[in-house]
Amino acid sequence: MSVQTKSLYERANAVMPPVALRATTLGVIKGEGSFLWGEDGKKYLDFASGVAVTNVGHNHPLVVERAKEQMEKLIHGGHNVVYYPVYVELAEKLNELNGGNCKVYFSNSGAEVNEGAIKLAKKVTKRSGIISFKRSFHGRTLATTTLTASNSAYRKDYEGLLPSVYYAEFPYPLRSGLCDLAETERCLAQLDEIFRFLIAPDQIAAIIMEPIQGEGGYIVPPEGFLKAIRRICDMHGILLVFDEIQTGFGRTGKMFAWQHFGVQPDVLTLAKGIANGFPLSAMVAKAEWMDQWTAGTHGGTYGGNPVACAASLAVIELLEGGLLDNADRMGAYFVEQLELLKDDYPQIKEIRGLGLMIGMEFMDADGKPVSETVIGLKEKALEKGLILLICGSDKNVIRFIPPTTVKKEEIDQAMNIIREALSELY
Ligand SMILES: Cc1ncc(COP(=O)(O)O)c(C=O)c1O
Repeated sequence: MSVQTKSLYERANAVMPPVALRATTLGVIKGEGSFLWGEDGKKYLDFASGVAVTNVGHNHPLVVERAKEQMEKLIHGGHNVVYYPVYVELAEKLNELNGGNCKVYFSNSGAEVNEGAIKLAKKVTKRSGIISFKRSFHGRTLATTTLTASNSAYRKDYEGLLPSVYYAEFPYPLRSGLCDLAETERCLAQLDEIFRFLIAPDQIAAIIMEPIQGEGGYIVPPEGFLKAIRRICDMHGILLVFDEIQTGFGRTGKMFAWQHFGVQPDVLTLAKGIANGFPLSAMVAKAEWMDQWTAGTHGGTYGGNPVACAASLAVIELLEGGLLDNADRMGAYFVEQLELLKDDYPQIKEIRGLGLMIGMEFMDADGKPVSETVIGLKEKALEKGLILLICGSDKNVIRFIPPTTVKKEEIDQAMNIIREALSELY
């Protein structure tokens, strides 16, 4: 068989390891807005957005234009060597969006920027302890594999990771069966236990958390939880790090999810949607901490690439120019439509989320997570032209992550496919 007759999946399998687990075997050749074109000649409605990356739609014309313009001028200057306009402009904009008292450091990926956040926290507090949350996902480098606690498979055979990391539970009322308040108190009590039995709070450099857990199941905490964590951090001089790598850049209908909760972190980490697909990440941290991060104690060659920074400025312009509102409106419409499914399919236990970060959790009559239906739904939807992803530590949550440009007709098209797929599964 000649190379040309093989699919991209088959060719990739011959030369690439299985380690990068993929949600589909689909090969694609082009993207535009909410759609991807497969090498099979089919057009797919993409409600995965490259895992919450193409937040303003595939190849948005403004992003393409600004990236092209920048490529004509400068592709790499090296932020360890020189300064260039888009790099400084983006830092100024991110600072402004976060209240104006911050400083910004650029890296390339989510994991890299979370590593940086932990290094900053350790450096400026001179403490070693870190608290993370069960079901969290923070990346797959060695340090971020340690912080990640959504699945033991990520850690298997890599143990002996970063020391002094402790884990608390993130509120999940659907699972505990408790009301928001009681669930918040239960989870906060775990922090007290950590402080009492394992490590004193004055030894903790940072608490790192996703304000809405992503990989863990699109879990939105009760509002009071984040406020309480903020208070604990203030009381003990602990840096609060919000990993908004998935929740940031319009995903939840606001630029950042912290704005929904009125709780600002000391350190905000951003990646994914920041540049609509160009590799870029950023740490936005309070100036009082950043000013203590001594020169040369952290770095990286490619951070703040000019083309990625230009793309990011375009993303922000688009989000502020109406797409945040669209995400909010379309998110509400989508949830409304999904809620209607509950009457016919009692296994659908909860539809939750903010903006266009929406999870649909499946459980059986005994309250046990059901993953087969979810896997079946994802596969059937793909056959019918809709790309969906799964999340949750039990793989029983469908996550809907369309771009903020999504139209009502596209949501209707997705709903028709979902209904059809569910009717074939039940
Ligand atoms: C919340 C969160 N943090 C960190 C990461 C890691 O980002 P990256 O894959 O760019 O290293 C992800 C990726 O899925 C994520 O969702």
